[in-house]
Amino acid sequence: MSISVPTPRTTTAPEPLVPDVIVPLPAADGSRPHLPVLRGPGVYPAQRDTWLLADVLARELLAASPTRRRVLELCAGAGALSLVAAGVPGTDVTAVDVSRRALVSAWANARRLGRRVRLHRGDLTAPVVGKRYDLVVSNPPYVPAADASLPTRGAMRAFDGGPDGRTVIDRVIDSAPRVLAPGGCLLLVHSAINGVGTTLEKLAAHGLDADVAARCEHPFGPVFTARAAWLEQRGLIEPGQRTEELVVVRARRPLVAAARGSVEDTTDLVRVSGPVPAVQER
Ligand SMILES: C[S@@+](CC[C@H](N)C(=O)[O-])C[C@H]1O[C@@H](n2cnc3c(N)ncnc32)[C@H](O)[C@@H]1O
Repeated sequence: MSISVPTPRTTTAPEPLVPDVIVPLPAADGSRPHLPVLRGPGVYPAQRDTWLLADVLARELLAASPTRRRVLELCAGAGALSLVAAGVPGTDVTAVDVSRRALVSAWANARRLGRRVRLHRGDLTAPVVGKRYDLVVSNPPYVPAADASLPTRGAMRAFDGGPDGRTVIDRVIDSAPRVLAPGGCLLLVHSAINGVGTTLEKLAAHGLDADVAARCEHPFGPVFTARAAWLEQRGLIEPGQRTEELVVVRARRPLVAAARGSVEDTTDLVRVSGPVPAVQER
């Protein structure tokens, strides 16, 4: 196990954690229990894209064999999706984010809810090179931004995805197949504005069988709304368009790769035996 999350600084007064709520699949009795997720200032709030992806994630995990539930979350933020995954019996959950604040929030949430999540700070799959996962889940930054260079700090690091919003999406597509076990599945959420066809084509080019697992139309949040005129000028949205479709893409790595012996999963699993350390809408 490696944990590269620093202890929160104590030289200044602690900033308050803000509660968000994530509502995963209905329970057996039909109720939809809320999962409160706290986050520090500047950490992405669990919201519509998180919720849509959480439902698909929970369904995939419940349908999976209990022996194939190794989960990696890329771009974990406060850890909402990892916490949902860690609530499914038999899961082994690892979460990666580049932001210290996000990881401190994820650590606090995992500890508070008593869910085991292994945390790494770093760039996408860099901290887990050589490992294999049955399920990789990601809600990356995908809002198109005028600046081609991505922010290296601050709240907008969770939102800005380069000129067409695809910079981090494409890097997830390029890196996730390397850590997917044969038969494993990538679940990726983004806006239809980013181009669903492009995502499906790029995943197919990596040898994955990709389809759309869920989609849902929503009014723009504040970040898309603030950029609407610019998005119109760029032709990324229709004139007057103020809604976007959120799309969850599912991409499975064929089992046949294992049969050919090209990649086999020999990752040793290490269970974390205790709690691990450590805006706005789009
Ligand atoms: C849209 S938020 C998603 C947060 C959370 N998964 C959710 O759905 O609520 C995107 C997150 O990606 C993180 N991020 C951005 N670039 C990254 C990178 N290259 N590697 C890892 N994390 C990154 C940001 O810090 C932010 O926490």
